[in-house]
Amino acid sequence: MGYKIMHIVGNRPQFIKLAPISRAVRKKGYEEVIIHTGQHYDENMSDIFFEELQIPKPKVNLNVGSGTHAQVTAKVISRLEEAVINEKPDGVLIYGDTNSTLAAAIVVRKLNIPLFHVEAGPRTYDTKNPEEQNRIVADHLANYLFAPDKISVENLTREGIASEQIIFSGDVMYDQFIYTSANQTDTKIGQYPDNFILMTWHRQENTCSKNRMEKMLSFIGKINYKIVFPIHPRTRKLLLKYNLWNEVIDNENLIIIAPVGYKEMTVLLSQCKLLISDSGGASKEASFAGKKCFFPLKLDVWPELIECGYINIVDIEDDNSVCRNIESIEEIIQSDKFLPQTDYFGNGNAAEIIVDTIEKAFRL
Ligand code: UD1
Ligand code: UDP
Repeated sequence: MGYKIMHIVGNRPQFIKLAPISRAVRKKGYEEVIIHTGQHYDENMSDIFFEELQIPKPKVNLNVGSGTHAQVTAKVISRLEEAVINEKPDGVLIYGDTNSTLAAAIVVRKLNIPLFHVEAGPRTYDTKNPEEQNRIVADHLANYLFAPDKISVENLTREGIASEQIIFSGDVMYDQFIYTSANQTDTKIGQYPDNFILMTWHRQENTCSKNRMEKMLSFIGKINYKIVFPIHPRTRKLLLKYNLWNEVIDNENLIIIAPVGYKEMTVLLSQCKLLISDSGGASKEASFAGKKCFFPLKLDVWPELIECGYINIVDIEDDNSVCRNIESIEEIIQSDKFLPQTDYFGNGNAAEIIVDTIEKAFRL
């Protein structure tokens, strides 16, 4: 029997997570319909991923745009309901931990349509963190929860979610990283110097005040190597707002570029010496590329990667932590050491496991 599967996405990392699942759904011959909330809307934050990763065009774009947490969440909730009712999907997939995820979870669950959460279960145990808030609600509303790593399974079990609802699928971001890395035939990237560092940061915690952004710039200013910086629009906007843009321009080590597509990003990850990032997705992808990530936020992101040395937490408020990490960055740049591969995030077949599980759930 043919089933109709709906995906609800709205942010850059969700388009990347959707790509391997969409391929697996189409392989099964099921009908799929993609709803784009419009939370991200710039060409290089949205369309480029659909084109490059050959994801079918969204059937509906809710065009919610930017706003406060409540504004974005409320707009998605009010605009999404009608689209879901009209499409009558057999099941709906939501991805990750953004406001679009939270809003979609509420709408779909209240319509009593089976809800599948991809990348369920990571916890930082920092309840002020907006992503943590979104993920907890989405996890507790979902009928089936696809955990990217074993720690996420443990977190969900500890929170009382029934074992039949939790599936250790592995990470769809790992699936896509392998797929894109193996299919890099025509990717054009800019010319960058040897031994460059890749950097991307945008988290609310690191952009919420002038003081915090100054601390970030002070940490970055202590690094004596070239840094390729595809800047997130939020970061650009807030550096301008706080009159810090000149400080960025004056740092001759910074090579500031517009956000890049995923293909270019995977090339940059494979060519860089190391990553500086507060991105949940990129901090994990660095390990896929065998690179260390310096994570400039006190947040227990991907605990297994912190434990095995792939992620170094940099407390940018603490001079000792900054000094230690600057030394560690210099050592890495000057050495040719690679970190061993890990298998925390599955075998690159998470999307197949997810779609097979959905099929079984429909047959119940
Ligand atoms: C959102 C998610 C965050 C995720 C990130 C991925 C929430 C609470 N946050 O953060 O979890 O890590 O996406 O990138 O859902 N902007 C543009 N063009 C765009 C998109 C955004 O200019 O296409 C600017 C706007 O000025 C906007 C700001 O970026 O106000 C922030 O956008 P928003 O979607 O609120 O949050 P992100 O920081 O992107
Ligand atoms: N990414 C990209 N281009 C960029 C920066 C990031 O394609 O210029 C990719 C990155 O490789 C990862 C995803 O976007 O797959 C991470 O998204 P983001 O950092 O916006 O969000 P987060 O993961 O923090 O939610």
